[in-house]
Amino acid sequence: MSEIINGNEISRVIREEIRKQTLTFREKTGVTPGLAVVLVGADPASQIYVRRKGKACEEVGFLSREFRLSGDAEEKELLEIIRQLNDDPAIHGILVQLPLPRQIRSQAVIEAIAPQKDVDGFHPVNVGRLVAGNPGHVACTPQGIIELLDRTGVAIEGKEAVIVGRSNIVGKPLALLLLARHATITVCHTRTRNLPETTRRADILVAAAGSPEMIRGEMVKEGAVVIDVGMNRLNDGRLVGDVAFAEVAPRASHITPVPGGVGPMTIAMLLQNTLNAARLTENL
Ligand code: GUN
Repeated sequence: MSEIINGNEISRVIREEIRKQTLTFREKTGVTPGLAVVLVGADPASQIYVRRKGKACEEVGFLSREFRLSGDAEEKELLEIIRQLNDDPAIHGILVQLPLPRQIRSQAVIEAIAPQKDVDGFHPVNVGRLVAGNPGHVACTPQGIIELLDRTGVAIEGKEAVIVGRSNIVGKPLALLLLARHATITVCHTRTRNLPETTRRADILVAAAGSPEMIRGEMVKEGAVVIDVGMNRLNDGRLVGDVAFAEVAPRASHITPVPGGVGPMTIAMLLQNTLNAARLTENL
């Protein structure tokens, strides 16, 4: 039987580490790390994420500021808020919750954030640094997956890692992080031919496609480590991942549940990036 990776517990341990580091940082500098979270519109899932981020900030002793714009806000309103936050010395990290409404160009918004305050790691400067092997802020979910593997004692070097999904938020940056850790990487997507044959090669299989329970038992090699990034709400109200857990768990050596796997790690890494951003401005 497989080991279920407890993301809630690992995230709790990391947040406690960050809380202590924040105390020390404040004693040394007199500065409180500050995170601004901007939400446009009233998407229910995004509202939940934003609330969780604010609460997590307060628990580790950060300043947390929330900005809410209506769903029909214009791009220039959002850009003006970002301009002010870029110039605000109390704010070290800026996060604009994605997805944004159609009238707003996400890429223009991402590029407006000062790279040193881009705690999502989405700005081209931070993406480029990751590609070049000299990372600045790194995207939270991929970084959280690496932490899960490290803190569970799963070795990465030399492994065959297969990622299903090529998003800018998860698939692409995760491929670069695993590559930097000397895994052999395959990134699959909707046009991949013979997906099961490819996923069966994986020592580490990451499902980040946003497709409910698409990874079936027969797609997974015996003894593989399975990481599920999916968060899909079904019509009957159930929350499921991209992995058919009941079929896959008996074959996996380790597997993350949904919820309680990758999700809580994203927030822990956001706090880590915000503390790092505050350290950067204080040259610590
Ligand atoms: N929406 C889903 N995941 C994320 C994330 O990591 N950051 C932001 N800003 N929006 C998201």
